[in-house]
Amino acid sequence: MSDSPTPYGLIEDAAIVTKGEMIEWVGPAAELPSQYEDMPRESLGGQLVTPGLIDCHTHIVHGGDRAVEFEMRLKGASYEEVARAGGGIVSTVSATRDASVDALIASALPRVDALLAEGVSVLEIKSGYGLDLETELRMLRAARAIAQHRPVRVVTSFLGAHAVPGEFKDRPDAYIDEICIPTLRAAHAEGLVDAVDGFCEGIAFLPDQIARVFDAATELGLPVKLHAEQLSNLGGAKLAASYGALSADHIEYLDEDGVIAMAEAGTVGVVLPGAFYTLRETQKPPIDALRKHGVPMALATDCNPGSSPMTSLLLTMNMACTLFRMTPEEALQGVTRNAAKALGLTESGEVASGKRADLAVWDITHPAELAYRIGFNPLHARIFGGQS
Ligand code: NIG
Ligand code: FE
Repeated sequence: MSDSPTPYGLIEDAAIVTKGEMIEWVGPAAELPSQYEDMPRESLGGQLVTPGLIDCHTHIVHGGDRAVEFEMRLKGASYEEVARAGGGIVSTVSATRDASVDALIASALPRVDALLAEGVSVLEIKSGYGLDLETELRMLRAARAIAQHRPVRVVTSFLGAHAVPGEFKDRPDAYIDEICIPTLRAAHAEGLVDAVDGFCEGIAFLPDQIARVFDAATELGLPVKLHAEQLSNLGGAKLAASYGALSADHIEYLDEDGVIAMAEAGTVGVVLPGAFYTLRETQKPPIDALRKHGVPMALATDCNPGSSPMTSLLLTMNMACTLFRMTPEEALQGVTRNAAKALGLTESGEVASGKRADLAVWDITHPAELAYRIGFNPLHARIFGGQS
């Protein structure tokens, strides 16, 4: 896949020249410049190569699980009812507060491995199940450590504004000012934060509370993104766009006004079909309006223990096509080029000169197969920073 105007940007009989971790040249093998002719070569067996996949929205580091809540929802309770009854995000908070950094890493690694087995090379990981200084920092340290344990690039998002913890019940403003913002500053001082996220929703935080967190992020020079318009429309995407957000995520209830604001700000729309599916939502993200206004669309697993216990980016692609009517080409762009954009990464998401040599090599004949199959993994090889 490259920038060429052919469908999917495919190049037949291609050669890729790598130097260290980077791609130096890509094109038809017949046009390989003479200076590369004597370089050592490795055949990829004529297989189809895409950029390494990028999961741009996960909560993959957390304590415990929420299988019981899954049962409650099957008996009729809604996601919001579970949350208001003290379950939901807040129950994962207790389990995460009880977990050491080593336990958080150990429990996340099998989930990370499932993603890597499908060709993922970049993984975004959020905090947001600590909601106190110590645990938020511990989650972010565990997230950073994942990249020491596995060949993957980790991008972190500080999600202190994810839920109001029990000790601040009915005092969300105090939580934002006394815990969330000071914790953001401490995490940033330790180099643990690549972006700042929030959850703008009736069961989480209102736009003016999110704005205070975003003001602090801006002051620290950090980019922002937002869980917006997942269960209702509070104008979160528009707010995020006014801060030049990298992305607005979920966006099922996004209206055209919000779409236009995102288009003007260059904010990526990240759709999360795993959460839509798990919560049995019926309101779909406005794919046609996003297309019409040229908002880049990305997709991600949203891997988390409550609303999306999913560790397959290929299944996510299938769901985005089947549930949201995205095209397989849009789905592939959504987990490569546009996912990189949603993370503010300029060196990932494309097979092109000057980009990282993070590649996924597939045993398929047509790229639509990646989104078409359900529960089948055709990965042949994964190359990370030029190394297989
Ligand atoms: O992206 N929407 C808010 N946050 C997560 C849910 C996390 C949870 O339920 O634990 C999400 O879906
Ligand atoms: Fe999320």
